[in-house]
Amino acid sequence: MMLQNSFKGGGKFIIRNFRSGDLEKVVYINRTCLPENYSPDFFIEHHLRWPEAFYVAEVGGEVVGYVMSRVEWGWSYVKRGIVKKGHIISIAVLPEHRRIGIGRSLMVSAMKSLKDRYNCGEVYLEVRVSNVPAINLYKSLKFRIVKKIPFYYLDGEDAYLMAADLRGLD
Ligand SMILES: CC(C)(COP(=O)(O)OP(=O)(O)OC[C@H]1O[C@@H](n2cnc3c(N)ncnc32)[C@H](O)[C@@H]1OP(=O)(O)O)[C@@H](O)C(=O)NCCC(=O)NCCS
Repeated sequence: MMLQNSFKGGGKFIIRNFRSGDLEKVVYINRTCLPENYSPDFFIEHHLRWPEAFYVAEVGGEVVGYVMSRVEWGWSYVKRGIVKKGHIISIAVLPEHRRIGIGRSLMVSAMKSLKDRYNCGEVYLEVRVSNVPAINLYKSLKFRIVKKIPFYYLDGEDAYLMAADLRGLD
């Protein structure tokens, strides 16, 4: 899937699926934007197993953001029982390209793929309790805080586990 979007300044960004040639840039963005860093193999594994739930954003032909997800089975966070659910593993947008809708478009693309391509009924993620920009983004996409996970991160910070129902998503 490829989406073309206009943003507030009148320019454009493109959302498309990750390709293996994007690896170096995605690893760079991950290391620039987040303390949780993953090996190149980890990104490739997700690309190979869930290619349609891994997106990048391009501005002027340059990759400036990504979202990587996986599919799991487990207890539902939005209803009763065991369900197939999407797990957003990592999302980041380079600082100079933030606040123009790229993060939201990446999330919407991943959520649509998790629902339509992988038949997930819900999606969840972990976020630092201090990460106001990300928490606001997820709340605007109807994620709810399910619980707090104490000392989730290596530096001791707590996480919120947030989840959203995908069944009503169009
Ligand atoms: C979180 C992140 C991906 C958002 O990307 P983005 O492209 O700036 O997000 P968008 O422009 O689509 O913003 C969507 C909404 O998120 C919220 N938001 C984004 N940045 C915000 C900020 N600095 N302060 C408050 N709310 C913010 C707003 O609700 C915003 O909607 P609005 O612009 O209409 O008010 C980006 O800040 C980032 O890469 N952060 C570092 C990595 C990170 O924290 N990843 C999440 C780990 S769980």
